[in-house]
Amino acid sequence: MESVLFKSIKDGNKKMFERIIDVSYKDYIDVEKSLNWDIGVNRNIMPKLESHMWLYGTKYFDMLSSAQKLEMAWMEVARDVSLFIHFEQLIPYIFSSYINKYKHQLNRQIYEYMMIFEREELTHILMFHRFLDIAKLPWFGLPQGFDELAKKLPEMPPEEGLIFTLFIEWTSENAVISSVRGQNCDPLTEELWRVHHMEEARHIAFGKKIGETFFEDGDDDRIYACRIQFGALLKQMHYVYNFNPEIANFLSFDLPFDISDDNIVHQIRSSEHNTRLNKDRFGSIYQWSKAQGIF
Ligand SMILES: [Fe+2]
Ligand SMILES: [Fe+2]
Repeated sequence: MESVLFKSIKDGNKKMFERIIDVSYKDYIDVEKSLNWDIGVNRNIMPKLESHMWLYGTKYFDMLSSAQKLEMAWMEVARDVSLFIHFEQLIPYIFSSYINKYKHQLNRQIYEYMMIFEREELTHILMFHRFLDIAKLPWFGLPQGFDELAKKLPEMPPEEGLIFTLFIEWTSENAVISSVRGQNCDPLTEELWRVHHMEEARHIAFGKKIGETFFEDGDDDRIYACRIQFGALLKQMHYVYNFNPEIANFLSFDLPFDISDDNIVHQIRSSEHNTRLNKDRFGSIYQWSKAQGIF
């Protein structure tokens, strides 16, 4: 099966690619100017909705004082920012490996947009580091299984790597954007997510178009295997998103349960509230995936 990245783009899609390339040259993030860094963060204000906190809806949440909830909410934001940095450091590496391997075969517009995409991620990394510095928040370590993924992605067929990238970005984006919706949260945190989303919305649109073209190509064995693989990736990613035990290293207090107890961590990740929250915030991902035969 020839890669969808090597073919000429169908008329309808061509306009969409032209539009996102065009907009990307005119409307892009400038680390220095796009955010109001001067306002700083206010660590006395919640940076996210309480109902999006990892322990919300479990008995452990009620055992925390208001000050502990606030501290934990900020550390959860630090985890989200850290996750973006880790993955976005990987994107230029993955995309460049495809570009160098397939340079003459890649469709011209896809080639161009992949480079814009890489440049934008480099900007985001700098923006996220600046935020962590200003907010005096830690940079969490690599998420579980991340090294393995890093080694696998550049070697994958490029369209599969782009769909992997889509799911990781889309999950993180939906989570952070919905975490500040409808309530006053720390203004700089809200601004960080909103500004980042301006470019990420284009990355997601690009990834979805690549994915749709890939899956509509037919029902051969490779597509069948990919559906299973992506379904498993999404399930695992959304499950672990709900709680990261590493947070205990950064809190000034002890959590009211044994962090090394896998059963408790599993109960938190799969609590009724977290299951419902995932269904809501990742609903658009499930819907799209269903249409591609992934679920
Ligand atoms: Fe980004
Ligand atoms: Fe992105």
